[in-house]
Amino acid sequence: MRLEVQVLSPPHMRILAIETSCDETGIAIIDTEQTRDGVAVTLRADALLSQALLHAEYGGVYPTLAKREHAKNLTPLFVEALKKAKMFEPTESPEVDKEAIAESKDILEREPELFVQLAVLLAQIKKPAFDAIAVTNGPGLEPALWVGVNFAKVLSRAWNIPILPVNHMEGHIAAALAHTQDAEKVIIERPRLPALALLISGGHTELVLIKDWLTYEKVGATRDDAVGEAFDKSARLLGIPYPGGPEISRLAAVARAENLNQPYSLPRPMLDTDDSDFSFSGLKTAVRNLVQEISDPTDEQKKQIARELEDAITDVLVTKTKRAIGEHGAQSLIVSGGVSANTYIRAALEEMVSEYEDFKLYISTPELATDNGTMIALAAALRPERATSDTNDLGAHGNMPLY
Ligand code: KG4
Ligand code: ZN
Repeated sequence: MRLEVQVLSPPHMRILAIETSCDETGIAIIDTEQTRDGVAVTLRADALLSQALLHAEYGGVYPTLAKREHAKNLTPLFVEALKKAKMFEPTESPEVDKEAIAESKDILEREPELFVQLAVLLAQIKKPAFDAIAVTNGPGLEPALWVGVNFAKVLSRAWNIPILPVNHMEGHIAAALAHTQDAEKVIIERPRLPALALLISGGHTELVLIKDWLTYEKVGATRDDAVGEAFDKSARLLGIPYPGGPEISRLAAVARAENLNQPYSLPRPMLDTDDSDFSFSGLKTAVRNLVQEISDPTDEQKKQIARELEDAITDVLVTKTKRAIGEHGAQSLIVSGGVSANTYIRAALEEMVSEYEDFKLYISTPELATDNGTMIALAAALRPERATSDTNDLGAHGNMPLY
């Protein structure tokens, strides 16, 4: 197994993956095998901790808090993942040399607490047999990203394992392409090209064209707020804590189930413009005006607003995506990012693509839709050749493009 590290694209790899781009700390361990149909993956462990509740009082993700929480939680989550993967092997004789520990102290200069936790762990366990350490190095919140990158650098230095930098958005794409075989096995399928990807999260709203495998072209994007922000900021105006997307969706479903009438109408920004761009900040403003007008909305009014908001967002996403599919002759649609966990939006997109013949929709399972370590491991599995031992220049890039 170890020898395979030397090969450019080894057919089998065991990958450790680290995700800290936003408010979820994720660690995953997978085994990969390159096959004719795609990459076959065995999911060995996934450890995830969401900080959402801690950020709730700020109404959004607070970068300094995110960084601190990642630093605090990475080591325990790493231990949890090692144990789940049955790779946690205590030892009496430390396998990490003193120089590596000294260098780790420098790497984690700004995360002293993490250094102490990690140094203690490194002194206690045997080197796990990873072929690569995948880590999200952008896009995302830069202080948060740095914690993951530095954590990866320390493990890489201590155990002499290459690092495989991953673009968070490619992680979302890989998650959507993961086709479940059974509880532990997935195949990452190659979509029919050209494929269109709709990436919808708290930080992104983008339409991306894939004409050649793993090559991306920007087709459209939001000009202001991301779609997840439209959910979260509107939710906040209704007194729903961050992240409000899931609760808005729940209220909207209740409004539909209860057959409530629809007294409010919100705008569908840029619905008919001749491009593939989006704009969502106007929606939040319209919700603010509505809430001010009503003054203290009742529970029933909140349900009605939530439904109209979800309808408006869904209309825009479906119409714009359909337009882009037509314009670019896409043969498949990849949908991913936290907002793709939304049941109503999923169903509307499924219905929209059902009109096309020989067209395939790839959409993440709700568990893989929001940020997690597995999606980073899956993206790493698509680009094994990116693993490198030359990690000095590896940095975190908040605005790292996919293109
Ligand atoms: O991908 P993600 O976990 O983090 C980012 O990279 O941003 O996405 C988080 C976003 C939040 O805005 C959250 O409100 C939204 O995804 N979200 C949802 C749902 N589940 C998560 N929005 C609407 N309906 C949902 N069910
Ligand atoms: Zn994300």
